[in-house]
Amino acid sequence: VPDSAVRTDSLALNPHRRGLLAEIAKDYGTPAYLYDLTAVHESYRALKRALPDGIDVYYSAKANPHVEIISTLSQLGARAEVSSPGELESSLTAAVPPSHILYTGPAKTVGELVHAIERGVRLFSVESEADRNRLAACATDADVSYVVRLASAGGGGSVGVRMTGRPSQFGVDPAALMPGASGGGLLSSAGRARPVGFHVFSASNAADEDSLIAELAQNINTVAATIKATGFSPNFVDIGGGFGAPYAAPGTIAEYPRLRASLTEQLDEALPGWRAATPRVAIESGRYLAGAAGALLTTIMDIKYSDGHTFLLCDAGINVLGGMYGLGRLVAPKAQPAGQSADSASAVLTGPLCTPLDVLSWSANVEEPSIGDLLIIPNVGAYGLSASLIAFMSRPLPVELVLNGSKVLSARRLYIGADSLRVNTEQKGQ
Ligand SMILES: Cc1ncc(COP(=O)(O)O)c(C=O)c1O
Repeated sequence: VPDSAVRTDSLALNPHRRGLLAEIAKDYGTPAYLYDLTAVHESYRALKRALPDGIDVYYSAKANPHVEIISTLSQLGARAEVSSPGELESSLTAAVPPSHILYTGPAKTVGELVHAIERGVRLFSVESEADRNRLAACATDADVSYVVRLASAGGGGSVGVRMTGRPSQFGVDPAALMPGASGGGLLSSAGRARPVGFHVFSASNAADEDSLIAELAQNINTVAATIKATGFSPNFVDIGGGFGAPYAAPGTIAEYPRLRASLTEQLDEALPGWRAATPRVAIESGRYLAGAAGALLTTIMDIKYSDGHTFLLCDAGINVLGGMYGLGRLVAPKAQPAGQSADSASAVLTGPLCTPLDVLSWSANVEEPSIGDLLIIPNVGAYGLSASLIAFMSRPLPVELVLNGSKVLSARRLYIGADSLRVNTEQKGQ
């Protein structure tokens, strides 16, 4: 691949590394995910600058469960928020102490709860009375603590994905916790499971600082109102997140110059002991911490002209990036390769799957494309590979390379395998 064919300008992978990208494509093939740990450092520092001192940062491993991203963040001081056995194992492999893990998620199974407790996790977020009761039933050999996830009304600003504040499966309506109401029992211990506080996560990917501030303010108000109405005194409050990041297009993560002062003021009023960690206050962030670190390297395999559109057929599609787009679950696909002039002709970026849904963008700018060109899709360190349709059409998964600046630290390729299970030949009803 000629050097000049590589196009990049992302935060982590800027143009003077063109030679490196061409080498990577030659050595490992494409599609290839590149994660630059120096960008993870920068993002973590930016988030810490934006937050008042004394707030714990939990990295949401769902954004990118790669062990080296989790371990980098853990070494910087982040804890881990996990929602599955896989995210838990990655976090433990990354040497996150179990005491720094918060296990969250709706519809947790008995199997995963037992596994998490066995692996040393002691703090869970519960989403309902049934969820809490299952946790209590699983906690036979250890004491566990839990936070009750509250369905906050949300801040009303502009956000990428609204989790609560609309009809949703998440959390508990705070009204249900009032004395005498159906969920009142959640604030009393059950077996060896003890309530220690509250968890709110109302929205993801706030569009701007005002929206983020409004969201977190509403979350804090929801917790304060619940404390007042129930008399329950928490020792841990997770006020959620919503920190924004560009996705699959050039751009940098936002700075939040007003957030620190605004959060300090709200917390002083709502949770007066928080500076002395009574309660301990935490936030959660996935995309802000991992998004800018990742780029996807893909090759243009073919070019076609159809009905006035230029189709660039790439070797990366929704099987490796933004698979949730294809399900209509997220925003319209609009991946934009880095380093392209804004006025170049718009192209449709498609992938290798046999479905018209396999589109990464309907309007990408790609200057004078040629077959064999490498394109770099920036800002895909979060919700990239693990949020894609990796099993559809059984294509090999892309290589994932971890870099420190221009030094390649590790390379791996995930695969989908199958365990053969013993068949119960004595099943009744056959
Ligand atoms: C409970 C919870 N915490 C954290 C996150 C991470 O969100 P983000 O990656 O936008 O920071 C999510 C995302 O859906 C979530 O549902």
